[in-house]
Amino acid sequence: MARPVGTITRGTTGVNRLRRADRWILAAHGHLLRTADRPLIVDLGYGASPVTTLELFQRLGGAQVVGIEIDPARVAVAKPYERPGLSFRLGGFELPVDRPPTLIRAFNVLRQYGEAEAWSYWELLTGKLASGGVLVEGTCSETGHRAVWAGLDREGPRTLTFSARFDAFERPSDLADRLPKTLIHRNVPGERIHTFLRDWDRAWAHAAPYENHGRRQRWLRATGLLAQDWPVFRHPPLGGRARWRLGELSVPWSCVAP
Ligand SMILES: C[S@@+](CC[C@H](N)C(=O)[O-])C[C@H]1O[C@@H](n2cnc3c(N)ncnc32)[C@H](O)[C@@H]1O
Repeated sequence: MARPVGTITRGTTGVNRLRRADRWILAAHGHLLRTADRPLIVDLGYGASPVTTLELFQRLGGAQVVGIEIDPARVAVAKPYERPGLSFRLGGFELPVDRPPTLIRAFNVLRQYGEAEAWSYWELLTGKLASGGVLVEGTCSETGHRAVWAGLDREGPRTLTFSARFDAFERPSDLADRLPKTLIHRNVPGERIHTFLRDWDRAWAHAAPYENHGRRQRWLRATGLLAQDWPVFRHPPLGGRARWRLGELSVPWSCVAP
């Protein structure tokens, strides 16, 4: 077997760490996963324990899931957890699978690479997707209470989603430390992501009186204000009250792209 593409990095993971992203995957792409013919789901870089891959497998309820890790010791740790529909194998960005995946989830993997590498691995991975398939690539805090992820298809990045527990931030721009590698170094004056986060903080400040009714109400109000100036998704499956009330907000990638 050729050497896996990539490098072994820190294996930090944890129970329920990717719950927010999985919930979004089901809402945004559940239809795709239900209607695709034998969809294959790849969890790339699952870390020191396969717990988040197991959770994804359970949440997807029966789809075929393959966990891929570049560290052989972590593959050995995961092997005993295999079961019908769930397997683990050694590999990297080349993706050692026998058919194109409908969904690739890669969390807290690319952040440990350089910015230029992150762009080229986005291209490599999206080029391996099945027709209509998606790559969900993101970063989150150790507990998963703050998370940001990009949704990509074979054409490139399409969406950017922010998700946070209401007690896990002071202002929306606190989520900047979880931006994908392709954006985090662009959070500087003159870049759209910086302007977006500045405007979101302003909307948050204007919505302060709503905090009396709880942070969720303040989030809903701030999102409504922000949506006056930015193309925040307002309708399901990516937007609207049902998403926003979870502490979530999605925008088209194009409005924040570097
Ligand atoms: C920080 S852990 C993330 C674990 C889990 N996805 C999570 O978010 O909790 C990153 C893992 O990605 C693995 N990794 C890094 N580059 C990889 C690659 N090219 N292919 C497969 N795994 C990779 C590392 O070895 C490490 O175990």
